[in-house]
Amino acid sequence: MNKDIERVLLSEEELSEKIRGIGNRISEDYKDKDLILIGVLKGSVPFMAELMKRINIPCKMDFMAVSSYGDSSESSGVVRILKDLDFEIENKDVLIVEDIIDSGITLRYLINYLKAKNPTSVEIACLLNKPERREVDIEVKYLGYDVPNYFLVGYGLDYAEKYRNLPYIGILKEEVYKK
Ligand code: IMP
Ligand code: MG
Repeated sequence: MNKDIERVLLSEEELSEKIRGIGNRISEDYKDKDLILIGVLKGSVPFMAELMKRINIPCKMDFMAVSSYGDSSESSGVVRILKDLDFEIENKDVLIVEDIIDSGITLRYLINYLKAKNPTSVEIACLLNKPERREVDIEVKYLGYDVPNYFLVGYGLDYAEKYRNLPYIGILKEEVYKK
Protein backbone atom coordinates (compact mmCIF):
# COMPACT_ATOMS: atom_id res chain seq x y z
CA MET A 1 0.00 0.00 0.00
CA ASN A 2 1.08 3.60 -0.60
CA LYS A 3 2.92 4.98 2.48
CA ASP A 4 0.73 8.11 2.63
CA ILE A 5 -2.48 6.13 3.02
CA GLU A 6 -3.93 5.62 6.52
CA ARG A 7 -6.24 2.83 5.37
CA VAL A 8 -8.18 1.60 2.39
CA LEU A 9 -11.84 2.62 2.55
CA LEU A 10 -13.00 0.96 -0.68
CA SER A 11 -11.04 -1.74 -2.47
CA GLU A 12 -10.72 -2.12 -6.22
CA GLU A 13 -12.97 -5.22 -6.08
CA GLU A 14 -15.71 -3.46 -4.09
CA LEU A 15 -15.65 -0.49 -6.45
CA SER A 16 -15.82 -2.70 -9.49
CA GLU A 17 -18.86 -4.60 -8.15
CA LYS A 18 -20.65 -1.40 -7.18
CA ILE A 19 -20.02 0.20 -10.56
CA ARG A 20 -21.22 -2.91 -12.37
CA GLY A 21 -24.53 -2.53 -10.53
CA ILE A 22 -24.82 1.15 -11.43
CA GLY A 23 -24.05 0.32 -15.08
CA ASN A 24 -26.82 -2.27 -15.12
CA ARG A 25 -29.34 0.20 -13.74
CA ILE A 26 -28.35 2.87 -16.24
CA SER A 27 -28.57 0.37 -19.12
CA GLU A 28 -32.12 -0.48 -18.07
CA ASP A 29 -33.27 3.08 -17.32
CA TYR A 30 -31.88 4.57 -20.54
CA LYS A 31 -32.57 1.81 -23.06
CA ASP A 32 -35.13 3.90 -24.99
CA LYS A 33 -33.31 7.19 -24.50
CA ASP A 34 -30.53 9.17 -26.14
CA LEU A 35 -27.82 8.91 -23.50
CA ILE A 36 -24.72 11.06 -23.28
CA LEU A 37 -22.30 10.64 -20.38
CA ILE A 38 -20.52 13.83 -19.35
CA GLY A 39 -17.48 13.25 -17.18
CA VAL A 40 -16.08 15.99 -14.98
CA LEU A 41 -12.31 16.06 -15.45
CA LYS A 42 -10.09 14.84 -14.01
CA GLY A 43 -11.44 12.99 -10.99
CA SER A 44 -14.15 11.11 -12.84
CA VAL A 45 -11.80 9.36 -15.30
CA PRO A 46 -11.43 5.96 -13.55
CA PHE A 47 -15.14 5.87 -12.62
CA MET A 48 -16.12 6.83 -16.18
CA ALA A 49 -13.82 4.20 -17.69
CA GLU A 50 -15.27 1.45 -15.49
CA LEU A 51 -18.87 2.62 -15.75
CA MET A 52 -19.01 2.92 -19.52
CA LYS A 53 -17.81 -0.67 -19.89
CA ARG A 54 -20.80 -1.76 -17.78
CA ILE A 55 -23.32 0.16 -19.87
CA ASN A 56 -24.61 -2.09 -22.62
CA ILE A 57 -26.77 0.36 -24.59
CA PRO A 58 -25.62 2.92 -27.18
CA CYS A 59 -24.27 6.10 -25.61
CA LYS A 60 -21.96 9.01 -26.30
CA MET A 61 -19.29 10.37 -24.02
CA ASP A 62 -18.02 13.88 -23.47
CA PHE A 63 -15.97 15.68 -20.82
CA MET A 64 -15.95 19.04 -19.13
CA ALA A 65 -13.28 20.56 -16.92
CA VAL A 66 -14.21 23.10 -14.27
CA SER A 67 -12.50 24.79 -11.37
CA SER A 68 -13.70 26.82 -8.42
CA TYR A 69 -12.67 30.44 -8.31
CA GLY A 70 -10.49 31.74 -5.49
CA ASP A 71 -9.59 30.00 -2.26
CA SER A 72 -9.63 26.25 -2.79
CA SER A 73 -10.73 25.31 0.74
CA GLU A 74 -13.65 27.76 0.87
CA SER A 75 -15.60 27.43 -2.34
CA SER A 76 -16.96 30.78 -3.48
CA GLY A 77 -19.80 29.17 -5.37
CA VAL A 78 -18.47 30.49 -8.64
CA VAL A 79 -17.24 27.84 -11.01
CA ARG A 80 -15.08 28.50 -14.04
CA ILE A 81 -15.26 26.35 -17.16
CA LEU A 82 -11.81 25.25 -18.34
CA LYS A 83 -13.02 22.83 -21.01
CA ASP A 84 -16.48 22.98 -22.51
CA LEU A 85 -18.50 20.26 -24.26
CA ASP A 86 -17.55 19.02 -27.71
CA PHE A 87 -21.14 17.97 -28.53
CA GLU A 88 -24.53 19.64 -28.62
CA ILE A 89 -26.80 18.19 -25.94
CA GLU A 90 -30.15 19.59 -27.03
CA ASN A 91 -32.77 16.79 -26.83
CA LYS A 92 -30.22 14.40 -25.30
CA ASP A 93 -30.46 12.56 -22.00
CA VAL A 94 -27.49 13.83 -20.06
CA LEU A 95 -25.85 11.89 -17.27
CA ILE A 96 -23.15 13.78 -15.39
CA VAL A 97 -20.41 11.45 -14.14
CA GLU A 98 -18.58 12.79 -11.08
CA ASP A 99 -16.15 11.39 -8.52
CA ILE A 100 -17.40 12.94 -5.30
CA ILE A 101 -20.02 15.39 -4.11
CA ASP A 102 -18.92 17.51 -1.18
CA SER A 103 -20.58 20.94 -0.76
CA GLY A 104 -22.54 20.29 -3.96
CA ILE A 105 -21.56 23.65 -5.42
CA THR A 106 -19.74 22.25 -8.45
CA LEU A 107 -22.61 19.97 -9.40
CA ARG A 108 -25.26 22.62 -8.86
CA TYR A 109 -23.40 24.93 -11.22
CA LEU A 110 -22.98 22.19 -13.83
CA ILE A 111 -26.63 21.16 -13.70
CA ASN A 112 -27.75 24.75 -14.28
CA TYR A 113 -25.22 25.23 -17.06
CA LEU A 114 -26.25 22.04 -18.86
CA LYS A 115 -30.00 22.58 -18.40
CA ALA A 116 -29.69 25.91 -20.21
CA LYS A 117 -28.72 23.93 -23.33
CA ASN A 118 -32.17 22.29 -23.47
CA PRO A 119 -31.38 18.62 -22.97
CA THR A 120 -34.32 16.24 -22.47
CA SER A 121 -33.04 15.33 -19.00
CA VAL A 122 -30.07 15.87 -16.70
CA GLU A 123 -29.18 13.35 -13.99
CA ILE A 124 -26.10 12.58 -11.90
CA ALA A 125 -24.01 9.46 -11.38
CA CYS A 126 -21.59 10.05 -8.54
CA LEU A 127 -19.26 7.51 -6.98
CA LEU A 128 -18.98 9.07 -3.52
CA ASN A 129 -21.07 11.41 -1.41
CA LYS A 130 -20.08 13.27 1.76
CA PRO A 131 -23.52 14.08 3.25
CA GLU A 132 -22.03 15.95 6.23
CA ARG A 133 -20.51 18.55 3.95
CA ARG A 134 -23.54 19.37 1.82
CA GLU A 135 -24.41 23.06 1.41
CA VAL A 136 -26.82 22.88 -1.51
CA ASP A 137 -29.50 20.31 -2.13
CA ILE A 138 -28.64 18.01 -5.04
CA GLU A 139 -30.46 14.88 -6.12
CA VAL A 140 -28.04 12.14 -7.14
CA LYS A 141 -29.83 9.45 -9.15
CA TYR A 142 -26.98 6.92 -9.14
CA LEU A 143 -24.76 6.96 -6.07
CA GLY A 144 -21.94 4.58 -5.20
CA TYR A 145 -21.36 5.22 -1.49
CA ASP A 146 -22.01 7.69 1.29
CA VAL A 147 -18.62 8.29 2.90
CA PRO A 148 -17.50 9.90 6.16
CA ASN A 149 -15.80 13.27 6.12
CA TYR A 150 -12.19 12.15 5.66
CA PHE A 151 -9.86 13.45 3.01
CA LEU A 152 -9.96 10.68 0.41
CA VAL A 153 -7.63 9.95 -2.47
CA GLY A 154 -7.29 7.38 -5.22
CA TYR A 155 -9.50 6.11 -8.01
CA GLY A 156 -9.37 9.58 -9.57
CA LEU A 157 -9.40 11.62 -6.35
CA ASP A 158 -6.31 13.71 -5.77
CA TYR A 159 -4.45 15.72 -3.22
CA ALA A 160 -2.37 18.37 -5.04
CA GLU A 161 -2.82 16.32 -8.25
CA LYS A 162 -1.28 13.22 -6.70
CA TYR A 163 -2.70 9.77 -5.88
CA ARG A 164 -5.28 9.75 -8.71
CA ASN A 165 -3.73 6.53 -10.00
CA LEU A 166 -4.29 4.45 -6.85
CA PRO A 167 -6.66 1.60 -7.80
CA TYR A 168 -8.57 1.90 -4.47
CA ILE A 169 -10.05 4.75 -2.41
CA GLY A 170 -7.98 5.45 0.66
CA ILE A 171 -7.93 7.83 3.59
CA LEU A 172 -4.97 10.19 3.27
CA LYS A 173 -2.77 10.46 6.37
CA GLU A 174 -3.30 13.81 8.09
CA GLU A 175 0.44 14.45 8.25
CA VAL A 176 0.48 14.66 4.45
CA TYR A 177 -1.84 17.68 4.22
CA LYS A 178 -1.43 19.25 7.69
CA LYS A 179 2.13 20.47 7.30
P1 IMP B 1 -18.08 20.44 -4.20
O1 IMP B 1 -18.32 21.50 -5.21
O2 IMP B 1 -17.77 21.03 -2.85
O3 IMP B 1 -19.16 19.40 -4.12
O4 IMP B 1 -16.70 19.79 -4.59
C1 IMP B 1 -16.55 18.60 -5.22
C2 IMP B 1 -15.11 18.46 -5.62
O5 IMP B 1 -14.23 18.61 -4.48
C3 IMP B 1 -14.83 17.07 -6.13
O6 IMP B 1 -15.04 16.98 -7.51
C4 IMP B 1 -13.38 16.88 -5.76
O7 IMP B 1 -12.54 17.39 -6.78
C5 IMP B 1 -13.17 17.70 -4.52
N1 IMP B 1 -13.19 16.88 -3.29
C6 IMP B 1 -14.12 16.88 -2.32
N2 IMP B 1 -13.81 16.02 -1.33
C7 IMP B 1 -12.64 15.44 -1.68
C8 IMP B 1 -11.79 14.44 -1.07
O8 IMP B 1 -12.05 13.88 0.01
N3 IMP B 1 -10.66 14.13 -1.76
C9 IMP B 1 -10.33 14.69 -2.95
N4 IMP B 1 -11.10 15.62 -3.56
C10 IMP B 1 -12.23 16.00 -2.93
MG1 MG C 1 -13.63 16.89 -9.08
